[in-house]
Amino acid sequence: MATDPSAGRVAPAGHAPAVSSPERPAALPARLGQVLCLDDFEAAARRHLPRPVFAYVSGGVERNRSLRANAQAFDAWEFVTRVLIDTSRRSTETALLGSTWSAPVGIAPMGLCALSAYRGDLAITQAAARENVPMIMSGSSLIRLEEIVQANPKAWFQAYLPGTEAQIVALIERVKAAGYGTLVLTLDASIASNRENNIRAGFSTPLRPSLRLAWEGLTHPRWLFGTFLKTLARHGMPHFENNHAHRGVPILSKNVLRDFSDRGHLGWQHIRMIRAMWPGQLVIKGILDVRDARAAVETGADGLIISNHGGRQLDSTVSPLRVLPDIVQACPEVPVMIDSGFRRGTDVLKALALGAKFVFVGRPFNYAAAVAGQDGVRKAISLLREEVSRDMAMLGVTSVTDLSTDCLMPADPRTASSSC
Ligand code: GLV
Repeated sequence: MATDPSAGRVAPAGHAPAVSSPERPAALPARLGQVLCLDDFEAAARRHLPRPVFAYVSGGVERNRSLRANAQAFDAWEFVTRVLIDTSRRSTETALLGSTWSAPVGIAPMGLCALSAYRGDLAITQAAARENVPMIMSGSSLIRLEEIVQANPKAWFQAYLPGTEAQIVALIERVKAAGYGTLVLTLDASIASNRENNIRAGFSTPLRPSLRLAWEGLTHPRWLFGTFLKTLARHGMPHFENNHAHRGVPILSKNVLRDFSDRGHLGWQHIRMIRAMWPGQLVIKGILDVRDARAAVETGADGLIISNHGGRQLDSTVSPLRVLPDIVQACPEVPVMIDSGFRRGTDVLKALALGAKFVFVGRPFNYAAAVAGQDGVRKAISLLREEVSRDMAMLGVTSVTDLSTDCLMPADPRTASSSC
């Protein structure tokens, strides 16, 4: 048997794979050690990044209860495997919103990627394009959204809504003019959450110049020269580029007022307004309550992303995996996607078996971009896709559409272990 992991497909020897696939990502630098799974990228990024930057990416909020619960939620389910099923021609290909992707996995939106990795969003989106998985560009980013869609015409854009109707309309017009086909609206960040961990680690947005920050840079020279100074030399001081139709504040500033609007007053009428002016696919992200899921569908959403923002908004918010089955049942008209805490092929298969159509993963791709750029992200995508493919074989399924609750059993509460 010849394996074609790039296409997520196992082809008999001598047969051309059914999907043209990119070449394998380049080998990663030896200094990273053995990278065998997504968690290995986190360990490498912890060494590579200044503490405030690593803390911003890795942290949750307050006591990190939701962050932990997201990781532990997968332990509530165990697989019931089947045997003697021919899985030699299995495929991880997944159809979603009019495209066929190489895996049921995409890259979640993450702010400030170009602070942890040189031209981070660009490296991530180029890797996503080459591996044929969806990448969602965050509105809280430091590279212009127009550059990203030029590099990857299949990228999606995620907006945090600005505070006034006029600002919302101007931002959506900009995203439309740039040529994006899918717009994601994140609704779970109506106000800034209490990121004490960021303050303790010396992180603020914008970053305040300080002796501590300078020391962190000097003690992480690979990041200082390879990301921060290289960015300054080639592209100037990074600014928040995509929260509005116009450029926002610089990342390093004495004025620490980030130009994020309070969105607490926004309502479904704003989503209806956007639906009326947005011709492409509209995805609503940050949904956990069945009533909100129904409201989103009735407002014209083409898809939902069930999410607690990676445990970064309200601490103790329920893990999305727990509410997934009810939302899937209530919203059969649209694909229900999910993120928050996914790290393993087994995590992905559990969500698909519970009815999710697609899974988004964030932090590990940020770490992979930080330590090894585009090749790192491609390696991370391949690792996860190979896990999904291998796990499908052991489970006894050949297609992601074969997954159902028949593959799962609730874990025995006496033996369920914590994965933290
Ligand atoms: C941005 O989306 C963040 O959670 O920091």
